[in-house]
Amino acid sequence: MKNIKIQMNNISKVFETDEIETHALKDINVTIYEGDYISISGPSGCGKSTLLSILGLLDMPTKGEYYIEDQNVSSLSLDQAAEMRNSKIGFIFQSFNLIDELSVFDNVALPLRYQTKKVTKETITNRVNECLSLVGMSHRARHKPNQLSGGQQQRIAIARALVANPAILLVDEPTGNLDSNSGDQVMDVLEKLNEQGTTICMVTHDPRYADMAKIQLKLLDGAILTTPTLQEAI
Ligand SMILES: Nc1ncnc2c1ncn2[C@@H]1O[C@H](COP(=O)(O)OP(=O)(O)O)[C@@H](O)[C@H]1O
Ligand SMILES: [Mg+2]
Repeated sequence: MKNIKIQMNNISKVFETDEIETHALKDINVTIYEGDYISISGPSGCGKSTLLSILGLLDMPTKGEYYIEDQNVSSLSLDQAAEMRNSKIGFIFQSFNLIDELSVFDNVALPLRYQTKKVTKETITNRVNECLSLVGMSHRARHKPNQLSGGQQQRIAIARALVANPAILLVDEPTGNLDSNSGDQVMDVLEKLNEQGTTICMVTHDPRYADMAKIQLKLLDGAILTTPTLQEAI
């Protein structure tokens, strides 16, 4: 039996602005097992980003329970949520969000240097080099991000997301800023990482890329249309 990485029970999210209530998520139930590769797709406004924000502890649900590796994270304080996010979640965004003043190496090292627990210089060097190698970018360690192509920058962002050994990678439209060739390369890297055991949950409106995931969740008006588990899907 595989370990459960993420469990959401009846998660709902209501946004209240002025007189208007928006039910962005309605009773969402999701279980993500270690090694899963899940895509979440659906039309604009269906709740994809809201779901990813809650999964990544960037926002809190209005109702429901959420567990990351057995720990109930439904009602953490902002500080606790930030700490949990830093140690358990790797984010990859459409905009690569790299720091242009830092080398590729230092960008990837950043999450380790911000960890509360002290990490030795040697451990950082080894782990950063390992992650750069995983995304095929070892030869660019001394470059600055703006000396690289968009696809290469996204691969660096993937290495940075991986470096602190997160429980899960949360990926938001990873190819949105890329031409199709670079987009395919980034998707190949994600596929390879998943084959090596990384748990991935990706939001995309591109059906071609959504189909590459092993489990495909479709959202419509804040509700999941299908929730096959990996066990049922194979
Ligand atoms: N901060 C917010 N305040 C009010 N309404 C919001 C907010 N964020 C999202 N919404 C609403 O929630 C619904 C889902 O939005 P979102 O999760 O961004 O959809 P998607 O990412 O699928 O396009 C939309 O109707 C959107 O207008
Ligand atoms: Mg969105």
